[in-house]
Amino acid sequence: MAPFISSFLLPLLFLFAFFSLSCYSKQSHKVYIVYLGEHGGSYAAEEIQEGHHALLYSVKNSEEEARQSMLYSYKNSINGFAALLSDEEADILSAREEVIWAYPSERRWAPHTTRSWEFITGYEGIKDQRGFGFEESDWLPSKTNHGKDVIVGMLDSGIWPESKSFNDEGLGPVPARWRGICQQEHSFKSSSCNRKIIGARYYLKSYEAYYGSLNTSYAYRSPRDHDGHGTHTSSTVAGRTVLNVSALGGFAYGTVSGGAPLARLAVYKVCWPIPGPNPNIENTCFEADMLAAIDDAIGDGVDVLSISIGSVGNPENFTNDGIAVGALHAAKREIVVVCSAGNSGPKPGTVSNLAPWMITVGASSIDRVFTAEIRLGNGMILTGQTVTPYQLKGKAYPLIYAGDAAIAGTQANLTGQCLPNSLSPDKVKGKIVVCFRGAGLRAEKGQEVKRAGGAAIILGNPAANGDEVPVDAHVLPGAGVSANDAIKILTYINTSGNPTASLGQARTVVDVRPSPSMAQFSSRGPNVLEPNILKPDITGPGLNILAAWSESSSPTKLNSDKRRVKYNIISGTSMSCPHVSATAVLLKSIYPHWSSSAIRSAMMTTATINNAQGGPLMNGDGTIGGPFDYGSGHVRPIHAADPGLVYEASYQDYLLFMCASAGVQMDFYYPCPKNPPQPYSLNYPSIAVSRLNGTVSVVRTVTNVANASARYQVLIVSPDGVSVQISPRELKFKDVGEKKSFKLVLKDRGSVMRGNGTYVTGSYTWSDGVHFVRSPIVVSFG
Ligand SMILES: *[C@@H]1O[C@H](CO)[C@@H](O)[C@H](O)[C@H]1NC(C)=O
Ligand SMILES: *[C@@H]1O[C@H](CO)[C@@H](O)[C@H](O)[C@H]1NC(C)=O
Ligand SMILES: *[C@@H]1O[C@H](CO)[C@@H](O)[C@H](O)[C@H]1NC(C)=O
Ligand SMILES: *[C@@H]1O[C@H](CO)[C@@H](O)[C@H](O)[C@H]1NC(C)=O
Ligand SMILES: *[C@@H]1O[C@H](CO)[C@@H](O)[C@H](O)[C@H]1NC(C)=O
Ligand SMILES: *[C@@H]1O[C@H](CO)[C@@H](O)[C@H](O)[C@H]1NC(C)=O
Ligand SMILES: *[C@@H]1O[C@H](CO)[C@@H](O)[C@H](O)[C@H]1NC(C)=O
Ligand SMILES: *[C@@H]1O[C@H](CO)[C@@H](O)[C@H](O)[C@H]1NC(C)=O
Repeated sequence: MAPFISSFLLPLLFLFAFFSLSCYSKQSHKVYIVYLGEHGGSYAAEEIQEGHHALLYSVKNSEEEARQSMLYSYKNSINGFAALLSDEEADILSAREEVIWAYPSERRWAPHTTRSWEFITGYEGIKDQRGFGFEESDWLPSKTNHGKDVIVGMLDSGIWPESKSFNDEGLGPVPARWRGICQQEHSFKSSSCNRKIIGARYYLKSYEAYYGSLNTSYAYRSPRDHDGHGTHTSSTVAGRTVLNVSALGGFAYGTVSGGAPLARLAVYKVCWPIPGPNPNIENTCFEADMLAAIDDAIGDGVDVLSISIGSVGNPENFTNDGIAVGALHAAKREIVVVCSAGNSGPKPGTVSNLAPWMITVGASSIDRVFTAEIRLGNGMILTGQTVTPYQLKGKAYPLIYAGDAAIAGTQANLTGQCLPNSLSPDKVKGKIVVCFRGAGLRAEKGQEVKRAGGAAIILGNPAANGDEVPVDAHVLPGAGVSANDAIKILTYINTSGNPTASLGQARTVVDVRPSPSMAQFSSRGPNVLEPNILKPDITGPGLNILAAWSESSSPTKLNSDKRRVKYNIISGTSMSCPHVSATAVLLKSIYPHWSSSAIRSAMMTTATINNAQGGPLMNGDGTIGGPFDYGSGHVRPIHAADPGLVYEASYQDYLLFMCASAGVQMDFYYPCPKNPPQPYSLNYPSIAVSRLNGTVSVVRTVTNVANASARYQVLIVSPDGVSVQISPRELKFKDVGEKKSFKLVLKDRGSVMRGNGTYVTGSYTWSDGVHFVRSPIVVSFG
C-alpha cells in the first residue's frame, strides 16, 4: 500500500466547472464516496484534484464522463472524492491499492430538532440562564473574553444574516488566519458577511444528484437559511447580546445572547428541503455534501465545528458515516467537533454520532415554562403550557373531544389526532377541541382545529410522553397538557352533559424546580456501534430554547402560516449541541493551545450529575438519570475552565481505536498493529466495558493543567457487582503539562443478575481538594 501520488495530468479547466448531473442519477449511477485516507505529502490542491480525476478517469470511458461524474474532490485534509459511479466502477476502484474504501452514499441525514420542527424552543440570554444553575458570571467568565476571535463552523441549514444577533458592531477585523470565503448568490450578498459572519458556503451537489435541481421558489441557492434551524443554532453559539427580545406573543422576554457572543461564525449550508407537500423544512442533509463542507471548514481554519445533524434510522459503521470520517480529520487538526445525540429517546440504544472523536450532546430542560390555566366547567383547574400569541381571555367555551368530532371514514387508530381534514366543522365550531399528540405535526393539529372553526386546541400528551409538555406557537389559542391531565379532561367530558372550559392568560414562569431534567426525547445509550465507548458524552439545555430565526418561514413551519418572527422557541438536541459548542469556544479562547481532546475532557470531567437544587439529575418521567441518559452529566462552563487534570487522545490513538473497533486501517501511514489495544483502552474521560467476564485492566493517563505542584487522590464508587481497584491511588505532579498514568482493574464479582441488558454504573473521581475530575464507569456482563 503506497501513499496516493497523482500520476497523470488532466487539463485543469474542468476541475472548476459545474455540470448538470441529473442524466447520471436517473440511471444506475449512485453517489459514491471514495476514501483515500489522509494527505501525507505536501501536494498542492491542484495536484490532489488531478490525482482524484485521474483515478476516476481510469474507470470511466472518457474524460468528459469523468468530469461530469465528479461531485467533490476532498483536498484540504480528507483525501478522497464523491462521484457518480456504477456498482461495477465502484468495485474496480475499491480494489485499487490507494483506495481505502468506496461506499454508496445517498443516505440522508436530518437536523436533530425533535420531529424536525415539532418542538419549539428558545435559547435564553444570560439573565435567564440561571435556569440551569449558573450565575450570570458563570456563563461568561471574564477570562474567556466571550469567545473573542475563536472561529466556529456551523454545519446546518444556513443563516439569516440580517438578524440583530449577527451584527458586528465593535468586532475587530476578521482574524488574519481565516482562509474561508463568502459565497455570494441568491439573496446572499457580500454585505451578508461581516465581521461576525466571516464565512458562508453552501453544498448541494449530492442533494441535486438525488432530487434534481433545487426548487428556488422556496429555497435559497446560497448560504441563506429558509428553515430557521441554522439561524437558531448559530445564534445559540455565537449570537451577539440583544436586549428586549421575545418570541411571538411576548414569551421569554429578556436579553438574548449566544454563549460566545464575540466568536466568529463560519456558515456551511448542507441541509435542504425535501421536494413535496411541505418544502419549508430544510431537513435533508447529504453525506457527500457534509463531507465537502467539513473538508472546507478544516481548510478555512475553523476552531470548533458544531453539527446538530444525525443519521436517520440505524447508525452506520464509523467508516460509512460521513460526519464521523470528516470529524476524524478535524480532530487531527485539533478542531473540536460537537454533535447532537438525536431525538429518539427515551428508548435505549438510540444515541447517534457515536465516534469517540466527537462530543455527543443530549438535551435537558431549563428552569422556565410557559403556562396557561385551564379551568373546566366542574371547577377543576389544570396547568397547560403554551407560547401561542392568541388568547381566549378566560371566557368559557363548550369543550369537545376530537374523537367525538371526526368526519366519517377517519381511521380508528387516528381518532383524536386532529390530522388535516379529519374534523367535522358542524361539531367543533366555536368549541375548545381536545386533540392528542402522536401522528402528524403538533402545529398542524392546531391548524386543523382552526380550519374546522374551533375556538382553541388543548393538545394532550399520550401516556408515553408523560409530563413533558412541548410548547407551540399555534395559529389559534391553545395549550398542551400532560398525559394525566389529558385523561382528567376526557373523564370530565365523558361525565358532564354539557362540558365547558376556559383558557387563561399565558405567562412565562421561571425558577421552576427541580431543573434541569433530561428531556424524554433525548436519545439514550448504550452505544450500539461500540459499547466500549460511553455515549452520549454530556447534556445541555435543549428544551424550549429561544434564539434567532429565519424571516423566510413561519414559527410553526406550516405552509399556511404566514406569520414571520425574528426569534423563535424550539427544542431538540439540535439546540443543546450549540450550548456545548459555545462552551468549547470559551475554552478555546482561554486555552488556545489545548488539544481538542483536552477541551472535551475538561467539559466532561467537570459536568454535574445533580440538578440546580442539589438533587440527582432526573429524567423527564421522574426516574433518576444515569450515564446512558446524560453521559458524564450537565455541562458547567465555569468548572470546565478549570478542570485540574485532562484526559487526552491523539489522532494516532483514534486510528488504533479504529483498528480494534472496526478492524479498519484508516490511514496508509499508520498500519494497524497485530494486537491493537482494546477499544475501552482509548484514553477517554469516561469508561465503558461491555461484557465483562472475569477481570479487565484499563490504563488511563491524565495531564496536569492546573497548579504546578499538586497531589490528587482517587475516590471510587464501584458499580454493583463489580470491584474497581485503581493504582496508584495517589498522583503527585511537579509541573504543569506533566502526565501520569494509572491502572483500573474491573473485576466481575458475579453477584448481580446478568444476561441481557444488565448494565451497572459507578464512577471514579480524582481530587486535589479543589478540582474534582470525575469519570463515569459503565459495565455490562457477558
Ligand atoms: C417549485 O415549487 C413551487 C411551489 O411549491 C411549485 O409550484 C413548482 O411547481 C415547483 N417547481 C418545480 C420545477 O418543481
Ligand atoms: C429595553 O427595555 C427597557 C425597559 O423596558 C428600556 O428602558 C430600554 O430602552 C429598552 N432597550 C432597547 C434597546 O430597546
Ligand atoms: C459494519 O461493520 C460490520 C463489521 O465490520 C459489518 O459486518 C457490517 O456489514 C457493516 N455494516 C455496514 C452497513 O457496512
Ligand atoms: C393506523 O392503522 C393503519 C392500518 O389500519 C396503519 O397503516 C397505520 O400505520 C396506523 N397508524 C398509526 C399512527 O398507528
Ligand atoms: C370516555 O368514554 C368512552 C366511551 O363512552 C370510553 O371509551 C373512554 O375510555 C372514556 N374515557 C375516559 C377518560 O373516561
Ligand atoms: C491552585 O492554585 C489556585 C490559584 O493559584 C489556588 O487558588 C488553589 O488553592 C490551588 N490549589 C491547590 C490544591 O493548591
Ligand atoms: C438477549 O437479547 C437478544 C436480542 O434482544 C435475544 O434475541 C435473546 O433471546 C436474549 N437472550 C436472553 C438470554 O434473554
Ligand atoms: C466467561 O468466562 C468463562 C471462563 O473463561 C467461560 O467459561 C464462560 O463461558 C464465559 N462466559 C461468557 C458468557 O462468555
